[in-house]
Amino acid sequence: MQTYYERDEEEGRLGVGAGLLELVRTKELVRRYLPPAPASVVDVGGGAGVHARWLAELGHRVDLVDAVPLHVAKAAEIPGVTAVLGDARKLDAADESYDFVLMCGPLYHLLTVEDRLAAWREAYRVLKPGGHIAAATISRFSSFHDGLYRNLFQHSEFRDMVESTVGDGHHRPPEGRDYNWFTHTYFHRPEESVQEALDAGFVAPQVFAIEGPGRALSDDEVEARLADPAQREQLLWALRLIETEPSVLGVSSHLLTVGRKG
Ligand SMILES: C[S@@+](CC[C@H](N)C(=O)[O-])C[C@H]1O[C@@H](n2cnc3c(N)ncnc32)[C@H](O)[C@@H]1O
Repeated sequence: MQTYYERDEEEGRLGVGAGLLELVRTKELVRRYLPPAPASVVDVGGGAGVHARWLAELGHRVDLVDAVPLHVAKAAEIPGVTAVLGDARKLDAADESYDFVLMCGPLYHLLTVEDRLAAWREAYRVLKPGGHIAAATISRFSSFHDGLYRNLFQHSEFRDMVESTVGDGHHRPPEGRDYNWFTHTYFHRPEESVQEALDAGFVAPQVFAIEGPGRALSDDEVEARLADPAQREQLLWALRLIETEPSVLGVSSHLLTVGRKG
């Protein structure tokens, strides 16, 4: 993971194409559950601070924790954000110290269910009663869809990788190749993140499709539609309409699971 993120491509990822749709939809879903500003928010696995920045701009007090020093250094420069190196499985924060936990990163990098549950439980511990968590996972079928839309099935190594990912959730790019097919990660089925949230004690977890079938649009198409006010609203309306529909959740590249601490 450290080697992958040393490429330093993370900061701009959510500013273009499919990443832009991921950002717009994550923001609108998170804002439904955020308490009024100023709330205390911890952004666990917050990377270079793309979400921390807009949360701070809304007036929230944001602490970011991330495992990659390069990301922490970048996030620490954002006004209103504190950033520290740390591990989602063992946070330094006191019990019940935050109004909201955002965790968009660790769950797919933690390869065992025990480690993922440790991250969920730490989030539960630091959250105040009544507060919400919003946690991102990558869908089991994300690389399948990438292969389909970006014509990557022409590579036999990509086909082998996808077959394995669809089978057991472990996305394992071939080693020693410079394909930029991410790094060894775990891709969830929608119901798995709900079960993890329940096992950690969260109440009534709900999973949302972030991009939903919007993932089928090309990067240019996403940017064009989001730039046009009418088309933007039509696209977001359509994605909202089926954002919790179980039969199509898996087509989304990213899923957001929201749970409450009772
Ligand atoms: C793809 S980036 C996402 C960054 C940002 N949250 C976003 O949504 O754009 C995943 C991030 O999770 C962080 N991460 C992965 N495992 C972690 C862990 N166990 N503890 C803290 N951070 C972790 C990585 O360092 C990386 O910055």
